[in-house]
Amino acid sequence: MMTRDAAGIRFEVAPGGALRGRLRVPGDKSISHRAVMLAALADGSTEVSGFLEGADSLATLVAFRAMGVQAEGPHSGRLLIHGVGLNGLRAAPGPMDLGNSGTSMRLLAGLLAGQTFPSTLTGDASLSRRPMRRVTEPLATMGADIRTTAAGTAPLHIMPVPRLDAIEYALPVASAQVKSSLLLAGLYADGITDITEPAPTRDHTERMLRAFGWPVQTSGNRIRLVGGQRLRAAPIAIPADISSAAFFLVGASIAPGSDLILEQVGINPTRAGILTLLQAMGADISIENPRQFGAEPVADLHVRSAPLRGIRIPEAQVPLAIDEFPALFIAAACADGETLLTGATELRVKESDRIAVMAAGLDAIGVVAEPRADGLRIGGRGAAALLGGGQIHSHGDHRIAMAFAMAALRAAAPIQIEDCSNVGTSFPGFADLAVAAGLGITEACA
Ligand code: S3P
Repeated sequence: MMTRDAAGIRFEVAPGGALRGRLRVPGDKSISHRAVMLAALADGSTEVSGFLEGADSLATLVAFRAMGVQAEGPHSGRLLIHGVGLNGLRAAPGPMDLGNSGTSMRLLAGLLAGQTFPSTLTGDASLSRRPMRRVTEPLATMGADIRTTAAGTAPLHIMPVPRLDAIEYALPVASAQVKSSLLLAGLYADGITDITEPAPTRDHTERMLRAFGWPVQTSGNRIRLVGGQRLRAAPIAIPADISSAAFFLVGASIAPGSDLILEQVGINPTRAGILTLLQAMGADISIENPRQFGAEPVADLHVRSAPLRGIRIPEAQVPLAIDEFPALFIAAACADGETLLTGATELRVKESDRIAVMAAGLDAIGVVAEPRADGLRIGGRGAAALLGGGQIHSHGDHRIAMAFAMAALRAAAPIQIEDCSNVGTSFPGFADLAVAAGLGITEACA
């Protein structure tokens, strides 16, 4: 089996084909992180099902184990976490390495700011370049003492402080990671933590806190909670990750003859922007058997190929589809007419600069892509045209790698994608599942 430590994995993807059948992508990454965090701080034991056994969510689990939390599993997505209570964590024996996972680092910064012991958080080269002041600055106004590099990046050294005070804070950027970091710090703060977001972002933290018996008030874009209560263990069923399903939604839309059902996908409205945007482009996606999975809505998504047209992406949709733009850009490349994305500067500080890296990759396969400071303009090749083949550099970004793998379904020649080891951070087994659905993908050691 190949691991993240292997020199590197290259995807070699044969052109053409169609995606067919029924499949279930792995569990939601965002919800998996939060499940470990809240279950660890709860009174009692929490049964988790559908946990994502990817490197990112496993990094969160390893960190909590290092802080004295006992957990059985994961086995086939099942995990039993024995909570230690809100004040039951203890100092890890050394730095906690969070790999590629921005969610682990930013949420843990908030959760650990109010502990009685010091912690150090480290990450890989990509995570060590990502901005952390967006969490450390508001946490400092609560009284936290978190040290970063001079550039405001990891490692983070989190020192104990006598107390945290709740703050009222208006987020300057729409970020669920920042919101969640402050809410988790707010669990330990004196008073009411009161956060306003510029636009709605994923609300998994709020939903899961309520499921664990901690009241959270939401009115419009304002979220409030009172510190110093208890979390009570409650079972958590994690939906399949819509961000992983997105690659298959795009692949099946662009590959003629496709007919695919993706089971049990989370369709939380704060995550479902990809459905709205693909449908606006003319995609044939039906939402079947909608139902509730604990605190989160899920459905089976039935997608059939359809001619797509370019759109102007409404800026209000950007936070609701923030991780899906690499996939969406491939749909845009295959559409009739131009697609224009604006208001998406955040894409420049993801696992890679997704505007620059996607523009370069699209160019390599013959698609006109004009980067802008806050977005991208893509000249669609047309619903009947083929893309070129070529070599793509993913820059170690899992979502770039998977997006270009799907592009091969509509390419005239093979596509090789370099540096794909990090696909395992969010989607272990991607290549096998894609092969089962009809994609001609092989993994090679680079
Ligand atoms: C996430 C929030 C988003 C998203 C990331 C996961 C989360 O990041 O891109 O993959 O789980 O809260 P931002 O908050 O930086 O937008």
